[in-house]
Amino acid sequence: MAIERTFLMVKPDGVKRQVVGDIIDRFERRGFVMRGAKLMNVPRELAEKHYEEHKEKPFFNELVDFITSGPVFAMVWEGENIIKLARVMMGATKPEEAQPGTIRGDYAVTISENVIHGSDSPSSAEREIKLWFNDELV
Ligand code: TYD
Ligand code: MG
Repeated sequence: MAIERTFLMVKPDGVKRQVVGDIIDRFERRGFVMRGAKLMNVPRELAEKHYEEHKEKPFFNELVDFITSGPVFAMVWEGENIIKLARVMMGATKPEEAQPGTIRGDYAVTISENVIHGSDSPSSAEREIKLWFNDELV
């Protein structure tokens, strides 16, 4: 298994609830390395591009409204098998399936406001890292 990079983002609910530090701590404790990070407001166009796979879904407009509702904390992290392992650490999308001990399982009870985004495959990681970070990575 090779060293990978993935895109992670604390969503506006997580920034408001001040859990950015806890989320960074979880990934650092696991042994992953941060390669880029920024607190930012999300232009609507960027949110729409980021979630373009969902543009025909009934929840798309609400999702874009939510992601643009306040600052997010966008990050790139690196490590062995991180794309899959970060998804496990995040917990499932459906709140009733998000296990305690995972980020969503510890902090979220709704499907829409669920604290964190993480790339779901090598191709989405590559696309999302390019979309959110230019040459700002170390
Ligand atoms: P999705 O890519 O399916 O989930 P994940 O974030 O776990 O990769 O969906 C993207 C986001 O869209 C999800 O984090 C929250 C929102 N969403 C809803 O608001 N309602 C829904 O029914 C689904 C499936 C997702
Ligand atoms: Mg997804």
